[in-house]
Amino acid sequence: MSHAGLKRWVAEVARRAKPDRVLWCDGSQQEYDRLCAELVAGGTFIRLNDRVRPNSYLARSHPSDVARMEDRTFICSDREEDAGPTNNWIEPREMRATLERLFDGCMRGRTMYVMPFSMGPIGSHIAQIGVEISDSAYVVVNMRVMTRMGRAVAEWLGDDGDFVPCVHSVGAPLAPGQKDVPWPCSESEKWIVHFPETREVWSFGSGYGGNALLGKKCLALRIASVMARDEGWLAEHMLILGVESPGGEKTYVSAAFPSACGKTNFAMLIPPASFKGWKVSTIGEDIAWIKPGHDGRFYAINPEAGFFGVAPGTSEASNLNAMKSLQANVIFTNVALTLEGDVWWEDMTHEAPERLIDWQGKEWTRGCGRPAAHPNARFTVPAAQCPSIDPKWEDPGGVPISAFIFGGRRSSTIPLVVEAPTWGDGVYMGATLGSETTAAITGKVGVVRRDPMAMIAFCGYHIGDYFAHWLRMGEAVRHPPKIFRVNWFRKDAVGKFVWPGYSENMRVLSWIVERCHGRAQAVPTALGLMPRYDDLSWDGLERFGREQYAELERIDGQAWQQELGSHDELLGRLGQKLPPELDLRRKRLHAGLAA
Ligand code: GTP
Ligand code: SPV
Ligand code: MN
Repeated sequence: MSHAGLKRWVAEVARRAKPDRVLWCDGSQQEYDRLCAELVAGGTFIRLNDRVRPNSYLARSHPSDVARMEDRTFICSDREEDAGPTNNWIEPREMRATLERLFDGCMRGRTMYVMPFSMGPIGSHIAQIGVEISDSAYVVVNMRVMTRMGRAVAEWLGDDGDFVPCVHSVGAPLAPGQKDVPWPCSESEKWIVHFPETREVWSFGSGYGGNALLGKKCLALRIASVMARDEGWLAEHMLILGVESPGGEKTYVSAAFPSACGKTNFAMLIPPASFKGWKVSTIGEDIAWIKPGHDGRFYAINPEAGFFGVAPGTSEASNLNAMKSLQANVIFTNVALTLEGDVWWEDMTHEAPERLIDWQGKEWTRGCGRPAAHPNARFTVPAAQCPSIDPKWEDPGGVPISAFIFGGRRSSTIPLVVEAPTWGDGVYMGATLGSETTAAITGKVGVVRRDPMAMIAFCGYHIGDYFAHWLRMGEAVRHPPKIFRVNWFRKDAVGKFVWPGYSENMRVLSWIVERCHGRAQAVPTALGLMPRYDDLSWDGLERFGREQYAELERIDGQAWQQELGSHDELLGRLGQKLPPELDLRRKRLHAGLAA
């Protein structure tokens, strides 16, 4: 390691946090295995039965540390107005003073790990380097799966390469002789802090997911969105998938759905049997970095190297590719343990096992009324293990994007699929995306909130400036992607999903692909261009009739009055920062729906 700036920074953090030792991670398999063994010895990991789930582990978090905490997430830009109305802001000097207090001696009794990592294939012109410091071995082994981490990245950095400094502590120092707990964290203080101008991340008190694996939401979305604004690209909460036709034509699309709304499912979709010869392949399932290419199209990479996916609901029926990815080399967090030493979660199998150990380590019996897995239980697995992974998933140049899709979880109002007639209409659709909240964040579940581009929690600057940036990006390329909005979650009068979803989403996806190639039909409506029943393929799903389809695509005037009111509420918060183009579209939509 010859990077003087990096060494100086590491020494500075060590001086402040006062760990017992500092360890530079090389990212090797031996290091991973050794740390996993230490985690087993310390009680953080349970090694699963090697016959059924080789080389895999279960971690159970502290019950207070199970999801991202949006109310503890801060964007500390120099000026409050640059954070905007959708982010928590604290004056940077005040925040730095707080961090000074929090980090003083916070790693006592622990090892401080240093992890150089690359978001994106090392050396890709779209990739970025970060270095995470953490006092959690659980974070190290997860980062090794989720990013390209270790010696190769340090070498790529050289003597003076740029990196984003990311400091993480579980915030639980150990007194001399004090025994550690299985999931150390701070119950009283949790902070996830970003300084967008200096491009730094500081996280304290939580060991879970996006709070602690700082390459993911903190760097790849909040900090990267600021870089993307400044440099003319896009950092988005999007999956990337490829569709191959029977004739071998390949089309890539990128889709933004809020947390736990089906990105992983959609990215790994297996077409129904009637789509003979069609294939869907996976590039990424959570984040996309997208840059204008020389040929006038957008090119996207997946900055991650693994999947940190929602376990509950994942089954061979709902996501066979995910289940096959999970056969070995997996870290599970907060799922249930079977008597055989395997894992289980709600809806993994048709019937639950009779007895389990639940995610909190308690005895569980079928029908006891408690969920066995936490609803935000997750798996960490290398992307390369996914059977549907695309041959180009590590292509440093990325893949060309033909369509952007926005979707939320909406039990009413929003139709199955609508195409935006223009880029500006599409930006309006994305900007006004709404979704019912899920267990992926702490707080109330199931209430509709505006989640612009699925980025409400991840945009590192003023959301009005972000909309303006999106509008400008439509002009950054000669062939901007078409934009669509989808909703798999509309419910009927008795609360059942109307649309079968999952594999059947291929019917909508193939229509989208055909629209991109100018081959499918659509009709104009007040909301945009919509397919008629006969414009979609129904082979193998004849039970889904015209009336049901009409219900899915129905535009309910009264519900839309409410919906528009809710758009106004969000857009109204932007004040001077509301782009005139979006204001114009809002007025047009009002007028169109009134007519
Ligand atoms: P993050 O990793 O949190 O960003 O989320 P994600 O978007 O990758 O979430 P994921 O794919 O894990 O979403 C899982 C949830 O979406 C589960 O509750 C699934 O049952 C549900 N889901 C996915 N696809 C469909 C679908 O087509 N129809 C219905 N009804 N539910 C779906
Ligand atoms: C999300 O909540 O959108 C996730 C999981 O992808 S986490 O990395 O924990 O943020
Ligand atoms: Mn996500």
